[in-house]
Parts: sequence; structure tokens; C-alpha cells
Amino acid sequence: MASFPHYRLQRLRRTPALRGLRCETRLHREQLIDPLFVVEDSSMAGAVPSMPGIERFTLDSLDRRAEAVGKAGIQAILLFGVPARKDAQASGSFAPDGIVCRAVERIKRVAPDLVVITDVCLCPYTDHGHCGLLATPRADSRPIDNDATLEVLGRVAVAHARAGADLVAPSGMIDGMVSAIRLALDNVGLVNAGILSYSAKYASAFYGPFRDAADSAPHFGDRRAYQMDPANAREALAEVALDIDEGADMVMVKPALPCLDIIRRVRDTYASFPLAAYQVSGEYSMIKAAAQNGWLDERRAMMETLTAIVRAGADVVITYFALAAAEAMESKP
Ligand code: PBG
Repeated sequence: MASFPHYRLQRLRRTPALRGLRCETRLHREQLIDPLFVVEDSSMAGAVPSMPGIERFTLDSLDRRAEAVGKAGIQAILLFGVPARKDAQASGSFAPDGIVCRAVERIKRVAPDLVVITDVCLCPYTDHGHCGLLATPRADSRPIDNDATLEVLGRVAVAHARAGADLVAPSGMIDGMVSAIRLALDNVGLVNAGILSYSAKYASAFYGPFRDAADSAPHFGDRRAYQMDPANAREALAEVALDIDEGADMVMVKPALPCLDIIRRVRDTYASFPLAAYQVSGEYSMIKAAAQNGWLDERRAMMETLTAIVRAGADVVITYFALAAAEAMESKP
């Protein structure tokens, strides 16, 4: 490479058009997945205070959102159900007339081309807020019974796929969840329902606002006995390897910005495998709060973080900014 003064990198930064020629990473609407909360009890609908700009939808208001998302050129949504009742067995999670199944059926009627992904986890449905059935005897430090939970996850996935979900997304970091779900789906002939696995999901502080929105905070202890330690990277590759081996169609790293190195390592290790990253609630709320205080330019922070996540190697990004980002792409920078 010729050196200074012959070679000047600033030459290609002089104008927007030159910068456009030099640009290495481009965001597309097709890369965005819009995460949506749908409530069974309509009195729980409305704004989520810890996530400015995000609301919990009823089945009716979800129709309008699905239409808006499609009009903005976004191709996929990720649904989270907020049930009216919780119990120890998480029975609302696999009920065929449960909130997520009803939402999927309706969306498939109003927006048949929209890819519908459903979160498959027990935490919003259990009366204790953990992502699986409780172990007996129960230990606060190791609360859940992994293997007993697998059967329930299979039932949840089958219920969602029967309702019309294109992809089910197990998010509980339950060992063996992908293979249990693949088997359950195949056993009833749902061979075309895919699995987007939350493969490398860390025990992160950045899920706080989501737990307000989904009403899914654990009532005792924490999730560190099943979610990953943020100190670990090689372990994430082991999680991804297992999920691919168990039959995942797409893997995910979560959260996104604190894990750009993990996204990059998964991308480099599995060059051809579809990879999603989840810009989680806390990442969203941090930018929103700073912007509301006038400390950050919201639009620029949004586009910069999303671009960084794609630059790190993600094919698609699940983000609460999906609609805003798609709209921002309409206009020039
Ligand atoms: C359910 C689940 C969580 C998120 C997605 N699925 C929360 C958790 O693990 O407590 C977090 C998403 C976000 O913060 O936006 N297990």
C-alpha cells in the first residue's frame, strides 16, 4: 500500500457520494425484525414506561401494527405473549387458544406475507417467573428442572406452529431445547416450521425493561444457572455448535452491542449459517433515555448501533427500533 502523502484515506470521505462508494456495510429493511408484545387482558395494553415509544398491543391493535410494519418494508416480527393468568405449569404457554396462538392466527389473516416468529419460553407464563419448570427440591441458585421443561417447550412450539408461526424461537437457554422442539414438530408433521434459537444468550443486565413489558421477572433468584456468563466467549461457540447440530435453522447472539465480539466469532466460525442478533430492551432504552435528555442524537445512535451489529456479522437484527430505522432509511442521511 502506498503511504502518505500519496495515499490519503480522506479522499474518499469528501462527499456523501464518495462515502457511499466506500461504504462497507449497508442496512436493509429486510434485515430488521420487529419485536412485539401482545396482551391477553386488554387492561394491560398501552405504553411501557421503561421503554419509551414501545407499547403492549391487544389483538385488535396488533393488526394495525402488523400492517404498519409491512408498509414500512419490514418482513418479520417476533411475538411475545403476556398472558392474563400464570401458574406453576405455565399452562397458558401451550394452550391452543392462548394469547400467542390467537395473535399468530390473526396476523396471518391480515398480513399473510409477514414472517411470524414466536418467542418460546415459559417465563411470562409461570407464576414464579423462571424460564422453566421449577426443580424439586428447589434451590434458589439452581431453580429449574431442565429436562422436565423440554417436554413443555415442545408443546409450546407445536401450538405456535399449528397456529401458523413460521419460526419458533426458544429463548430459555434450556439444554437440549432445539432438539426437543425439532422432534416435537417433526412428530406431528410440522416439518416446515423452523427454529430460530437464542443460542448464545447471556445473563445480562440489559433485559430489565423487557421484564417490565413481558411481566416476566423471576420472583426469586436470577437466571445465571441457565443463561450464559458475560465473561465467556468460547462457551458461546459451544452453544452455537450444539444448536446447529440439534437442528436450528438460524442462531442468535443476545444482547447485541455488549456482544459484538461474539457475533463476529460466530460469523467467522460458521461463515454460511444464518445469524441473528438481538438489540435488547436495555440497549434500546439506554439510547432513548439519553436522547430524551438531549445527550445523544437518537437517530444517529440508532443507525450507528444497528450498522455496528451488522458490521460485526449479523444477518438480521431484532430491534425495538425496527420501524423507526425502516422509516429513517426512507430519507437520506
Ligand atoms: C425470555 C426472554 C427475555 C428476553 C427475550 N426473551 C428475557 C429474559 O431472559 O429475562 C429479553 C429481550 C429484551 O430484553 O429485549 N426468556
